Parts: sequence; structure tokens; C-alpha cells
Amino acid sequence: MYDKTVKLCEGVFAPVLALGTWFIDDDKAAEAVREAVKLGYRHFDTAQGYQNERGVGEGVRTCGVKRGEIFVTSKVRADYKSYESAAESIDRSLAALGLEYVDLMIIHSPQPWIEVNQSDNRYFKENREVWRALEDAKKSGKVRAIGVSNFLECDIDNLWETAEIKPAVNQVLCHIANTPFELIDYCKKKGIVMEAYSPVAHGVALRNEAIAAMAKKYGVSIAQLCIRYDIQLGMIVLPKTANPKHMKQNAELDFVISDEDMKTLMNMEKIKDYGEFGKFPVYGGKY
Ligand SMILES: NC(=O)c1ccc[n+]([C@@H]2O[C@H](COP(=O)([O-])OP(=O)(O)OC[C@H]3O[C@@H](n4cnc5c(N)ncnc54)[C@H](OP(=O)(O)O)[C@@H]3O)[C@@H](O)[C@H]2O)c1
Repeated sequence: MYDKTVKLCEGVFAPVLALGTWFIDDDKAAEAVREAVKLGYRHFDTAQGYQNERGVGEGVRTCGVKRGEIFVTSKVRADYKSYESAAESIDRSLAALGLEYVDLMIIHSPQPWIEVNQSDNRYFKENREVWRALEDAKKSGKVRAIGVSNFLECDIDNLWETAEIKPAVNQVLCHIANTPFELIDYCKKKGIVMEAYSPVAHGVALRNEAIAAMAKKYGVSIAQLCIRYDIQLGMIVLPKTANPKHMKQNAELDFVISDEDMKTLMNMEKIKDYGEFGKFPVYGGKY
């Protein structure tokens, strides 16, 4: 699975399996990246908001594999909604990472987190400005590909009208029992590569009996079933862990979920209660 890649734009290919790093502390991130690289991971997903770009960058620089063979994604903070704030933040990301370029830079959210699930303002005008900053960063070689996250159809349409460079990816919440099928179809038709975040539902899938039963049928762990599901939907998938045993297991995906079982998983009752994590805007909570 480590070697499988997908084309994002001219000359840029991303490994389909990435290590998510949300909630990996900055002082643990370098070791997590080095462990993952030792196993075969080549794609790392960080963000300005995760406050671990420094550690992730250190891991990339000290992992013993050439920079050109590693793929690094970061994200412009959700509340930077002007050309200047976005452009300056990309420079700060490069400085924090200690890298000359980022492979993929994403707008983290169309709305600042504080307004997600609370306001109808989609920041259309502002997102076009942020997008221009990303386009300029790509033109100057600071980033190789640019994309979005948590963008709905209307947010994508808004960028599409004025974008000189089209978004290469949309990174969205996508796991068994909560999959945005229509959005995935819409983006794919536009040639946008889809990325699945929280593939294990931020850990909540580990406690879901229906998912557990299907994992048992295949003789795999719940995390493996969840990751394989997103891969079979044609997505880049970003499981998070700092535990090398979990990292290794999450890449052991040499099994195929049958069409019939995919259908069952696609129709599973939606997870609405993310427990203690439900407070996060990405799971429906308010900031
Ligand atoms: N763009 C966005 O707005 C956005 C939002 C959320 C997430 N993301 C990205 O997506 C990544 C993944 O999402 P996520 O962090 O929400 O969570 P996730 O990957 O869905 O789940 C992580 C949880 O699953 C556990 N886990 C992972 N592999 C396991 C295994 N093999 N066995 C048992 N437990 C396992 C982890 O525990 P251990 O750590 O103990 O292994 C952790 O508790 C993030 O790190 C981030 O990079 C992006």
C-alpha cells in the first residue's frame, strides 16, 4: 500500500496512504514521522492549526529518506481569510517545517472554525483571496499542489469561477457510517482527488458493533476495515497514530471488501454521536 500513488496535478503524485498527525504533539511528531518512514510511509498530513509543523518537518528532514521521496501536506488556518494572512502563513509554515517547499497546501476550512455550524457566511469573497495566495505560492515553487478541505459544492463552485489553477484535492470527513457520497461524486466529476480524514471516526468506529462484526468477518482489525473502505471508495486516506504497531497494521490492507459488503458498509446507520469529540466543529460541534 505504501507505493500506491494518485496524480494530483501535472508532475505531482501523492501516496494514497498518509499518516495523519492531528493531536500528535510537536515534541513527539518527529519520532512518529521517522518511525512511519522506517515502515514505508511517505505521506504526512499536518496543518498550521495542529501546532506540530516543526516536529513533522524535523522528522522529514532527519528520516534518512530523500526529501523528494516524501510528500508533505499542510493547511492554511481556517481563520486566515485574506490574501496577506494566507501568504504570510505559508512562509511561516515553510520556516516551521524547515523545508523549501510543501507538496500540498490546503485551505483548512471555508469558514473560520468559530463560525462552522453556526453561521451561513461561506466567506466566498475571502476564500477567492486565500486561493489566490495559494496559486501564487504554487507559481513561486513554495508548494507543488493546492487544494481545499471541508469545502461543500457551493464553496467549490465559488472558487471554480475565478480560479486560474483548479483545486487538486478536497479533504473531507469520510468514514464507514458517515460518508458524503454526493460531494465525493461531485468532486470526482470535476477531477478533484478526494481525501478521507478521520477514517477511524477519530477512534469512535473502534466502539461500533456493526463495524466490528464486519471486521471480524474479514479477520482484520476495525481500523484496517475502515481504512480499506476509504481506499475502495477511491480516496487518499489519512489514519492518525503515533503508535508504530498501529502504523504497521494500518498499512496491511491486502484484502478486498466484496461489493456486497461495501454496499452494507455504505448503508450503515450514520454515526451521529462522536462522544467527547462531538464538541469539535468537524464532527458537528460548535467552537
Ligand atoms: N481537514 C480537516 O479538517 C481534518 C479534520 C480531522 C482530521 N484530519 C486529518 O485526518 C487525520 C486522521 O483523523 P483523526 O486524527 O481524526 O482520527 P482517525 O485516524 O480517524 O482515528 C485516530 C484514532 O484511531 C486510533 N487508531 C488508529 N489506528 C489504530 C489501530 N490500528 N488500532 C487501534 N486504534 C487505532 C488512534 O489511536 P492511537 O493514536 O492510540 O493509535 C486514534 O485514537 C488527522 O490526524 C488529520 O491529519 C483533517
